[in-house]
Amino acid sequence: METQILSRSRGWLERAKQYIEAGEVVAFHTETVYGLGANAFSDEAVLKIFALKGRPADNPLIVHVHRAYDISPLIDGEPPYAAALRSAFLPGPLTMVYPSTGKVSKYVSCGLNTLAIRVPSSPTAQAFLKAVDLPVAAPSANLSKHVSPVTARHVFDDFNGKIPLILDGGACSGGIESTVLDCTGDIPQILREGLVTREMIASVAGECGVYRPKTGERPKSPGMAYKHYAPRCKTAYFGREELEKAIECYEKEAKTGVPCFLCESEVCALLKDRRTLDLGGTPEEMARRLYALLRKGEEQATLLIGVEPREKGGVMAGVMNRMKRAFGVEHGTKES
Ligand code: TXA
Ligand code: MG
Repeated sequence: METQILSRSRGWLERAKQYIEAGEVVAFHTETVYGLGANAFSDEAVLKIFALKGRPADNPLIVHVHRAYDISPLIDGEPPYAAALRSAFLPGPLTMVYPSTGKVSKYVSCGLNTLAIRVPSSPTAQAFLKAVDLPVAAPSANLSKHVSPVTARHVFDDFNGKIPLILDGGACSGGIESTVLDCTGDIPQILREGLVTREMIASVAGECGVYRPKTGERPKSPGMAYKHYAPRCKTAYFGREELEKAIECYEKEAKTGVPCFLCESEVCALLKDRRTLDLGGTPEEMARRLYALLRKGEEQATLLIGVEPREKGGVMAGVMNRMKRAFGVEHGTKES
């Protein structure tokens, strides 16, 4: 199969619509990362996504809809805070988990009685979702465990010859996946941190929890149990106060291989003429650059050395979560 990359051009959405209606999988730009989409009502199309990614069968998918799509048939009611959150943050990088009515394919939620719904703000995603006018199940468009894609080229690198079409909307401005928020309880609870922060949610909903699975428990957001975002080279990770040790590690690798640092600008400045990939200075910059630099790092280096950024709160909670998982510092309970 030839994989076409199309950016805004005559007939591009009709093509995408035809593929989706035929049960094919189409990759598309969102403001967070690229998604790998299929008709959420079709068992066969949804199963194709799992097969293409090599995704574990117990890791549920997010359903994507356009801003005017009526989700009420898909969900079994919503608490008052959810309506307030929708009007404050959607369209945007917030996924909301509701009680499900079971209307979409059972493979979307992998046996959970909930459904995760997202309304992306990317004009490309909106145009695509509007054209198909169906709920589109879509995980990030990377092979399972690999780094998430933030350009059409990243998607192409993982799926060339395997999917017919990539809708290219340019580089993703957000850079890390949406915040996943459980809206089935009395107060909202974050299952995956992202660009819509706990503070932002609490300012609208009054309260917001962050879910941490207890050891041995099946996590509420099964994806968080898996190894993720891993670059295909050796990695090492150091705290901000361990810079000497990090440099020793670099020098040792430099004797036989190609080491490279991945760290924020102010640390890069201390590393003189050593090889560095610069995450930038602000949390938003770091979120936007992280995945592209992890992919660049795995191409250019034999050892990628991460150094913990200084700031921790707000958007950095999401960035730190992805960084630690990419560097194998925290990857939950399972390794598949
Ligand atoms: O920004 C994003 O969310 C991107 C773009 C493409 O929209 N999508 C994305 O999908 O990151 P994926 O499949 O890579 O991650 C979905 C996460 C997983 O951690 C999964 O376990 C969780 O959402 N999830 C999906 N449905 C769920 C549900 N019903 N209950 C709890 N967690 C759910
Ligand atoms: Mg993913």
